[in-house]
Amino acid sequence: MPKIVIAIDGYSSCGKSTTAKAVAAQMGYGYIDTGAMYRAVSLFFSQELVSLSNTKEVVAALDRIHITFKHNERSGKNETCLNGLTVEDEIRKMYISNIVSEVSAIPEVRWAMVAQQQKMGHKRGVVMDGRDIGTKVFPDAEVKVFMTADTVTRAQRRQQELLAKGEMVNLEDIIKNIEKRDLIDTTRTESPLRQAPDAELLDTSFMTIEEQVDWVIELADLRL
Ligand code: C5P
Repeated sequence: MPKIVIAIDGYSSCGKSTTAKAVAAQMGYGYIDTGAMYRAVSLFFSQELVSLSNTKEVVAALDRIHITFKHNERSGKNETCLNGLTVEDEIRKMYISNIVSEVSAIPEVRWAMVAQQQKMGHKRGVVMDGRDIGTKVFPDAEVKVFMTADTVTRAQRRQQELLAKGEMVNLEDIIKNIEKRDLIDTTRTESPLRQAPDAELLDTSFMTIEEQVDWVIELADLRL
């Protein structure tokens, strides 16, 4: 059977990654969390005190970044690695969420990440989630989904995720962070967050993860 690319874009905390991961597992496809890549770049920039307004510094730092995904046999989860070290937990923390949209709005950062993502998916058979997969990374993806949900629901989901990892953050701060990221993501000049004209809209406000997964799988079945 031919393999396809499934692009899942949309706002943060709509259930994109959980859905994408489950769809990939059911279809025997690879899963690529592109948000994790921008988060890993943000972590590196913050560790190395890279000045975001200094293009030379940014480009030099990008040359020293190698991002990979590794399967952890013990937890059964995919982990993001930055220069060989797992950074999966660190990149999910609030201080990274607070800088990641500014970092990912830098054109040089996007060009580097998009090139890597296109390489990772060139054999197809991948589910990729992010903000610009259907518009920029794989405009020829066979399945394109654009996810949305109301802000408070998204913030509550994010709060639960953080709590499960032992980080307590109040809902107001999470709402502020989500709104700020939405604004930066939708208004940046380089591939802003947009629904591709041929993407199917999925509002997950009242959906369970199982329903979201079934919805995407049904769509994929139609395109196979
Ligand atoms: O998906 P996640 O919320 O982890 O993504 C973190 C941030 O990375 C987003 O808010 C967005 O600023 C950026 N991002 C992006 N393009 C992508 C994926 C993520 O700009 N393809």
